[in-house]
Amino acid sequence: MRRAKITAVGAYLPERRLTNADLEKLVDTSNEWILERTGIRERRIVGRGQGSAYMALRAAEEALQKRGLPAEAVDLVIVATVTPEHPFPATANIVANALGAHRAWGFDVEAACSSFLYALSIAADSISAGRVERALVIGSDKMSSIIDYRDRATCVLFGDAAGAVLLEPTDEEVGVLDYLHRADGSGCAYLHMKAGGSVLPPSVRTVRNRLHYVYQEGRQVFKQAVVQMAAISEELMKKHGLTADDIAFFVPHQANLRIIEAAAQRLGLPREKVMINIDRYGNTTSATLPLCLYDYESQLKKGDNLILATFGGGFTWGALWLRWAY
Ligand code: UT7
Repeated sequence: MRRAKITAVGAYLPERRLTNADLEKLVDTSNEWILERTGIRERRIVGRGQGSAYMALRAAEEALQKRGLPAEAVDLVIVATVTPEHPFPATANIVANALGAHRAWGFDVEAACSSFLYALSIAADSISAGRVERALVIGSDKMSSIIDYRDRATCVLFGDAAGAVLLEPTDEEVGVLDYLHRADGSGCAYLHMKAGGSVLPPSVRTVRNRLHYVYQEGRQVFKQAVVQMAAISEELMKKHGLTADDIAFFVPHQANLRIIEAAAQRLGLPREKVMINIDRYGNTTSATLPLCLYDYESQLKKGDNLILATFGGGFTWGALWLRWAY
């Protein structure tokens, strides 16, 4: 049976760090509150004039370079993002062109924090179906472009970054083995951006009223995130008779350390089996999952079972069973 396996991982982390001490100067907050309530110490902020395409390009270049493949070898580029380079065309098209992937087609996937996992699932299915030989799936978000640095409830949470995986076909029982995804649009009320879309296009009024930023009712999102991320992971594991002992690593979306710990606890997974890097990058939305794989790559062995899980705006959530291939 033909499957899609990850053969390389790349990342781009902007050099500039925004620490909790920096945020203490911007809003009424404290290092203690941020650490205790979120687990975040610092985030990265990309330079002015650089957008999601720039970060995606750098992450994709690293993945291809690690695999030793030219960009022409890629025939599908999907960029997962909530902060596209432009409303249109797709960031994926800009990235493919800059990369030199001239044989590729591509598009963006926008499913808030679940964008990367949705995109990975689509790309894997395209490879399994024999339609595509090599796909780049890139999560890239410049969250600093939609964060209100006067709003202490959101500005402490998010950061900028990109992560990329290269997918290739395999006949072995490795790679993307299964996934389950869900969406519930009633969650829109709790996490969204009010203006800038077709219902409320940008205007002097929307800018003046600060409507072009992330709006979040944190407590509502928190409750759902803990329950749904664990429940869908459990459903996927049960479907395949997997227990906590079979899992090498749980790879959760990095939105809040307390959400990650609560979900892992519900699944009966000890902390050493949970990928965590939120302390260094904050919530990078579409980039969190590939950044985890990137940071833990050296600890992974061929055959390791990973459960990737996500929860985000929409609401959208999902879990994916991946067997590491190298
Ligand atoms: O990735 C997309 C999905 N997003 C998430 O999964 C995020 C889910 N939500 C969360 O992670 C948490 O709800 C937050 C980190 C956003 C907030 O933590 P919380 O423990 O739920 O706090 P809260 O919103 O209930 O607020 C508690 C208090 C409030 O003060 P009062 O009303 O009790 O006086 C807030 O005003 O903490 C206050 N607060 C802050 N204080 C200091 C909120 N933000 C801050 C801050 N510094 N940065």
